[in-house]
Amino acid sequence: MEYSKVNNLLHGGDYNPEQWLDRPDILKEDIRLMRLANVNVVTLGVFSWSSLEPKEGVFTFQWLDDIMDWLYENEIYTILSTPSGGKPPWMVKKYPDIMRTRRNRVRHLYGERENQCNSNLTFRRKVKEIDQELAKRYAHHPGLVMWHISNEMYGECHCELCQQNFRQWLKQKYSSIETLNEQYWSNFWSHTYSDWDEIESPAPHGETAVHGLALDYKRFYSDLSIDFLKQEIEVVKSFNPEIPVTSNMFHLNCGIDYHKLHKIIDIASWDSYPKWHCGKDKSTDWSQAISAAFQFDFCRSLKSQPFLLMESTPSTVNASDVCKLKRPRMHLLSAVQAVACGSDSVQYFQWRKSRGAYEKFHGAVVSHNGSAETRVFRDVCDVGHFLNQSSHLKNTVTKSEVALIFDYDSRMALLEQKSLKNKNKNFDEIALQHYEALMKNYVSVDIISQDWDYSSYKVVIAPVLYLFKEQTANKIREFVKKGGTVVMTYYSGLVNENDLVYLENPPAGLQDVFGVESEEVDSLCDDEDNIVNWNEKQYRAIDYCDLIKANQAKVLAKYGSDFYKGLPALTENAYGEGNAYYIAFHSDGEFLFDFYQELVKHNKIQRIVDIVHCQDVMIRERESEDNKYLFVMNFSTHERKLSLPGNYSSYRGKELHNHKLLLKGYEFAIVQKSNN
Ligand code: GLA
Ligand code: ZN
Repeated sequence: MEYSKVNNLLHGGDYNPEQWLDRPDILKEDIRLMRLANVNVVTLGVFSWSSLEPKEGVFTFQWLDDIMDWLYENEIYTILSTPSGGKPPWMVKKYPDIMRTRRNRVRHLYGERENQCNSNLTFRRKVKEIDQELAKRYAHHPGLVMWHISNEMYGECHCELCQQNFRQWLKQKYSSIETLNEQYWSNFWSHTYSDWDEIESPAPHGETAVHGLALDYKRFYSDLSIDFLKQEIEVVKSFNPEIPVTSNMFHLNCGIDYHKLHKIIDIASWDSYPKWHCGKDKSTDWSQAISAAFQFDFCRSLKSQPFLLMESTPSTVNASDVCKLKRPRMHLLSAVQAVACGSDSVQYFQWRKSRGAYEKFHGAVVSHNGSAETRVFRDVCDVGHFLNQSSHLKNTVTKSEVALIFDYDSRMALLEQKSLKNKNKNFDEIALQHYEALMKNYVSVDIISQDWDYSSYKVVIAPVLYLFKEQTANKIREFVKKGGTVVMTYYSGLVNENDLVYLENPPAGLQDVFGVESEEVDSLCDDEDNIVNWNEKQYRAIDYCDLIKANQAKVLAKYGSDFYKGLPALTENAYGEGNAYYIAFHSDGEFLFDFYQELVKHNKIQRIVDIVHCQDVMIRERESEDNKYLFVMNFSTHERKLSLPGNYSSYRGKELHNHKLLLKGYEFAIVQKSNN
């Protein structure tokens, strides 16, 4: 299912005209400016509940009717949001228990947004009613292209009703209290439960020591939130199943397992706010570009199809420590990057700057003075022009032979448990380093969970896969047996899905596949390192050194100092038709870059382009049946020169001359070649 009514890549963003209903001149001007900026879609209705139901049961849709009609008459489509991300004060005055109770067991007063209790039946009923009204009225509107369900769902509630639902969820999962006690290892410190109703969700002044419980509460609440969204989806779909739904995602720490959420939506969408120009070295935005690309690839991989960039800022945010403006050319470059990584849209928060309230100084396409002559408006027009000219890119896909496992359960469990460097276990940074090393080798990567099907990949990478679910060891074994290559690191395969430690050395269930077993892991102080020599080069080992025994594996590199000098640091093991590599130490990026360079060669992984890494230049690919498009993007302020082998011709951006590209600071080029 796709937003096929819009022929082009989508350009637009959050539009909240209810702020300006007493200014018809402004509303009229909005449409003129949208057309000027090549906007073809807007998202209406995000947080609009007060304007749609100002009093309980009194619905006021006329303004929305008018706006949707005007937009449509002007060839601007609507993504319509359900308003459940915010709620009107009358509702909380009448039903105070719809508000979320925090971990400290204090219930929120009315205020802010996205802070309801997802168990609360009154809130669910209210949401259902308003969604029904909306869907009844607009599900067949010719301008409607998609439903946007709620907004950036996140967080958790700890009210009594949520506790009851949690206990039900636990009963379903464990069947008996004995099994739960066993999995939680609760007789340690005498925490054995004798009845379900003794179980309370974690609290700062209560239970924080039973890691299985903490993990289960996160899973329970993620399931509950997804169920909440599912209810909304069922309502809107019941009026017209043809309209696709999305729910904008935004943060890997938001408490929702996106690897589950994606199953109930048709199109994945992401809100992206990189901190451009805020790195230590102001001449490069490479590290911001890498983390933005990681998130895009995560989102793209969820449905193995193009995703939508649902929100971004055309200039600055308003709530960061430093609210920096995008430097000239960065707006277009960051928009191109989203498309390069698989987005079929560039959309903003928000269209016109609010006059008051929390986000009045957040960047918007149209500023307070309403002018089309601003730098930001011109930047947005440039993006509109680019998207309008690039319709061939819509629906093109990204193919990857390599997958990186970035798993919600394992990540949550690792952050919760006590060991390693508790202040900052660096898990996200570690995953990013592996990803960056692949990006610098110009290799395309999918980002998946451990539950994914690995069979379409040649290489699967599992950095710090601490938690192994029941089937994971077997899946990895089968994958390698059939010829796959797996790269795993220290601190992988230690516990089961409830954080209960396996009674064997890690990697549990896979010692024979990797040919190694881990006995201990050393955490290094920030000012310490060890040395690893590999392929006649010396690398630093930092943060973590796994002390492993190589049983059958071939030792490729050893530690160079400390009491474990001489122990294996890097191993390779042939198993079945495949190969299993174990990286025992954490390194800086240099080792990973060299390691993956070798691995890619050895496994004949298709590189996006076969050239040496050009500093600060990200290269990505999208393809259709007929064409390949290469996106070459310079994320530094310096000029970069490249030579592209192959028969490419210029498509957009800087022109290719005789295989050569010259990109000034923040410039890009898109080149194409025929697939036939
Ligand atoms: C989020 C929200 C928007 C807006 C932006 C500001 O992504 O969804 O409503 O608050 O942040 O950056
Ligand atoms: Zn609750």
